[in-house]
Amino acid sequence: MTENNSNPIIYNRHRFSVAPMMDWTDRHCRYFLRQLSRHTLLYTEMVNTGAILRGDADRHLRFDTAEHPVALQLGGSEPQALGEAAAVGVRYGYDEVNLNCGCPSDRVQEGRFGACLMAEPKRVAECLAAMRAASGAVPATVKCRIGIDDSEDYVFLRAFVETVAAAGCDTFVVHARKAWLSGLSPKENREVPPLRYEQVYRLKQELPQLTIAINGGIRTLEDCARHLAHVDGVMLGREVYENPYFLAQVDARLFGDAHPLPSRAEALLAMRGYVERELAQGTPLGQMTRHVLGLFRGQPGGRAFRRHLSEHAHRKHAGWAVVEDALALTQPRADHAADAYALA
Ligand SMILES: Cc1cc2nc3c(=O)[nH]c(=O)nc-3n(C[C@H](O)[C@H](O)[C@H](O)COP(=O)(O)O)c2cc1C
Repeated sequence: MTENNSNPIIYNRHRFSVAPMMDWTDRHCRYFLRQLSRHTLLYTEMVNTGAILRGDADRHLRFDTAEHPVALQLGGSEPQALGEAAAVGVRYGYDEVNLNCGCPSDRVQEGRFGACLMAEPKRVAECLAAMRAASGAVPATVKCRIGIDDSEDYVFLRAFVETVAAAGCDTFVVHARKAWLSGLSPKENREVPPLRYEQVYRLKQELPQLTIAINGGIRTLEDCARHLAHVDGVMLGREVYENPYFLAQVDARLFGDAHPLPSRAEALLAMRGYVERELAQGTPLGQMTRHVLGLFRGQPGGRAFRRHLSEHAHRKHAGWAVVEDALALTQPRADHAADAYALA
């Protein structure tokens, strides 16, 4: 915790984070989310070790320095490959490397990683040892479930965490529902198994030396505050993506940093330089604007904003003007106000 006299800022990096989400939390999304909160820890999508070590690492790893603090989530199960991939991640400047032990998709299971790694705590410990050895001062962390298939009692979770912690990993993000490794789609595995927050609280209670963040089904700041009475951090995924303005409150409410809040329009307009730089490098506008569609959710003109971007941002040569036009649909129009006045 660092303090200045008037405004103590709570310095615990995991206090609030945005979850790794494939196809969603790419670098454009993260740049946008950073306009809304300075302190939130942002996670990448999961990147397989193969894509880093044998593929186009730069395509998967490059990011804008404005995104800090940002954590790289790795997918893999071979200690050596994970160590090498973590080292590459650290060279790129990531603030954390994280191992995915929570994803239940078939494709991931074929590679024997993701949630099925929870059945192999010793292997995960070796993976974390290799990641730590390669990452130096940059923390290596784990994201897992409370259990898999029929192994969902608290004893299973605690044994997994203790084994991995013995390899020096001191931070765990726990999605508070188990994963069924067969029979449910990844989407169903985020909805069907019941949430058991109390298991994650108990983990923190019994292993207080570890940093424990909780994830799964958290939708409001009040919920965040409630969880923070029991654990060190909260991680949110879908709520932030669907309703990104949620983040605007986080610095003040959860980190004690009461800088002026950006308005929705300000956060969007702050993207202009970035969007124009990316357009000049050939990134299609729609690849960036798809992440801002929820910015005006529940606001006047919010649907028109979304519709305008969805219809126009994918057109050939679509440029920044499309964003300005969408934004105009959310602003009260002076001529409408005048009409209303004339009618009154
Ligand atoms: C579209 C999507 C993609 C996801 N991809 C990943 C991923 O790459 N790695 C991971 O650990 N979890 C992934 N998850 C799970 C989330 O990180 C998170 O654990 C889950 O959505 C529960 O949190 P929430 O209820 O706040 O959304 C994904 C979730 C969604 C919705």
